Amino acid sequence: MELMEMHVTGQAVDRRDGALKVTGAATYAAEYRPEAMLYAVAVNARIAHGRARSVDDAAARAVPGVIEVLTPFNAPRLEGRITSPYEEQDNNTGLTALAQPVHVLQDRQVLHYGQEVGVVVATSFEAARHAAMLVRVDYEEASAKLELRDHLDEAFTPEHMMIPIEPDSGRGDVEKAWDEAELKIEAEYETPVEQHATMEPGAAIAEWRDGGVIVHTSTQNVFSVQKAVANTFSLPVEKVRVVCPFIGGGFGCKVGTWAHVHLAVLAAKAVGRPVKLPLSRQQMFFMHGHRPNQLQRWRIAATREGKLAVLDQEILVQTGERRDFVEHTGETTGSTYACPNVRVRHRGVRTNVPGPTIMRAPGSAPGMFALESLMDEMAYKLGLDPIEFRLRNDPEKDPEQDRPWSSKSLRQCWEEGRDRFGWARRTAEPGTMRDGRWRVGYGCATAVYPSMRSKCAARMTLAADGSLLVETAASDIGTGTYTILAQIASDAAGVPLDKVSVRLGDTELPYAPGSGGSWGAMSFGSAVLEAGEALRAEALKLAGDGSPLHGMSNQRVKAAEGRLFAADDPERGETYAELMARAGRDRLSAHAQAEPDDAFMKYGINSFGAGFCEVRIDPDTCEIRVPRFLGVYGIGRVLNPKTARSQLIGGITWGIGMALLEECVLDTRTGHFVNDDLAEYHVPVNADIREVEVHFVDEVEDKLGRLGGKGCGELGIVGAAAAVANAVFHATGVRLRKLPINVGSLAGRI
Ligand code: MOS
Repeated sequence: MELMEMHVTGQAVDRRDGALKVTGAATYAAEYRPEAMLYAVAVNARIAHGRARSVDDAAARAVPGVIEVLTPFNAPRLEGRITSPYEEQDNNTGLTALAQPVHVLQDRQVLHYGQEVGVVVATSFEAARHAAMLVRVDYEEASAKLELRDHLDEAFTPEHMMIPIEPDSGRGDVEKAWDEAELKIEAEYETPVEQHATMEPGAAIAEWRDGGVIVHTSTQNVFSVQKAVANTFSLPVEKVRVVCPFIGGGFGCKVGTWAHVHLAVLAAKAVGRPVKLPLSRQQMFFMHGHRPNQLQRWRIAATREGKLAVLDQEILVQTGERRDFVEHTGETTGSTYACPNVRVRHRGVRTNVPGPTIMRAPGSAPGMFALESLMDEMAYKLGLDPIEFRLRNDPEKDPEQDRPWSSKSLRQCWEEGRDRFGWARRTAEPGTMRDGRWRVGYGCATAVYPSMRSKCAARMTLAADGSLLVETAASDIGTGTYTILAQIASDAAGVPLDKVSVRLGDTELPYAPGSGGSWGAMSFGSAVLEAGEALRAEALKLAGDGSPLHGMSNQRVKAAEGRLFAADDPERGETYAELMARAGRDRLSAHAQAEPDDAFMKYGINSFGAGFCEVRIDPDTCEIRVPRFLGVYGIGRVLNPKTARSQLIGGITWGIGMALLEECVLDTRTGHFVNDDLAEYHVPVNADIREVEVHFVDEVEDKLGRLGGKGCGELGIVGAAAAVANAVFHATGVRLRKLPINVGSLAGRI
């Protein structure tokens, strides 16, 4: 594959949206103000399971400014097609359930605490919020299933996973190999409910116009919202426009569409005016998805020579009665190591908790926490250095599909990281490294994340003044999409970077798959690259007799600084402006759709890396600190070292939070997540994160696309929690298999 020439791409260009965001100039979903807009606040159920017997909304309606109170008793009926979520598979990305219709306020059943049971519409937000608190719902309560461990016997095999994998997979003969194995570990790992905790809460503004609806909402994927709203309200998709140019964090919870969006659309329809419905931070904990609580029952075996013999993983995921999501936690289990006998089983357990969803490296984040902890456990059992044990089992090719890797630099990552981190200083015996009163531990883990790409389109328009507009419906979720697309456009069209502007996040723009699964840069970027080439071809069509470029094909022409020239004779050429002026054109535009080829069938395409962590533990207070974390990654060509590095630092930060802080606590009497705000749900802050170092090895990925890169958005979190847990073991000799690891996990044990 011939790779794009990178000049501007590959440079550490500052984020284009950075200044807009920090100065308040970026407009978020809740910051639009259509004329005559009203405010809506959702009413949430205060039981986990049951039925609404009656509603008393008199006090709410008496609040000055209240226009309407909708509940299942009076809400307009939705005629929307009721589909199985899995009928709504996105043919492009292969993800299911993203455009699931949600029939808000259509029946009186309550299936989880915090479920929407009403919506109040008023002339001010304050009136709507106050009135929402006054809506009295009388419930007929039913017994609720709340704890995963209490209902394991009800585990089911999902018919569909959200991503296109089978719930059960594997190779070899696990039982036979287990019986014959030399070294065995059987262990249970547990990860808690974790919340996306985006800075920007969800919000939606709905405005009906000409039989259609315009929705401003915070989403990673404008087309999934479009389809969900169209399904729910029986509209043709072209009657639904979704707009979202800026997002204050998504992390997976803004890939699908949640009830609040439909509530806003329903309320706006009922009152005949635009309606804004913002979610409170508390509502984010119940109405916007979370990473599910899950148990992993593992058996791992190895030969005395340090070769893996068995990887057997059963995953039990707590899902919701109302909305199923069985996380694909075993997605990378079969492909990370050369192991002849592998079995992965995904099971769901339905309970009365809100519907979970994908979150920050879904699948691999919890899966690799367990696998990479177990690799550490086994390395100690073998008396082998944990890096050496991993390298001995590093597969030459993708062992799951028996096909070559598209590119893989994991060994270089381990070797470079080992030197940079100073792994040689580590003593083998746990509990033997000290610094004054601090117990010191070093831990490491493999990072791996599938690198994907989807069909995407883009349009470019060049104006007579030399400015270039790039348009695609992609989302920039804070990852740098605006910036890297401008860089790619600058190279592809040969227009100076400061002349390029980028528009994103609107269903009226050319199709894009949305941001998620670390596929954004390669999907959107490939479309922009092809649009740039199409623009050059359009320009060449204007090159008549009078042009030095007359008769030249795109293949023989290069472009830079707004000028097209012969590749073998740079003197021969002219500017876009000259070409356009001679042809009497004031605009030139081109559209392209880029699709991945069959590389996915022929190669294992993953991003890889190696993470190293140092912890320090106070032996009296059991306080755990992470003074440094270092990761080395292979992500193909780096499109922008600044934004890519920030992605990896962010991922590592998530991993440290996952290891030590994040846990959403369910009140097992009521089904209420009790720590439902950012004071009580802890994510790392600056004081928690000390030195985080990220390095990239030189690598070119020439199978995934002509940009030469791979995904990196989610890679950093994968394995990071295991690196922390492994360092805690190394410091203390205490193996902790349940996250988060905190003072309580260690108290009385060291
Ligand atoms: Mo990611 S969980 O696909 O936003």
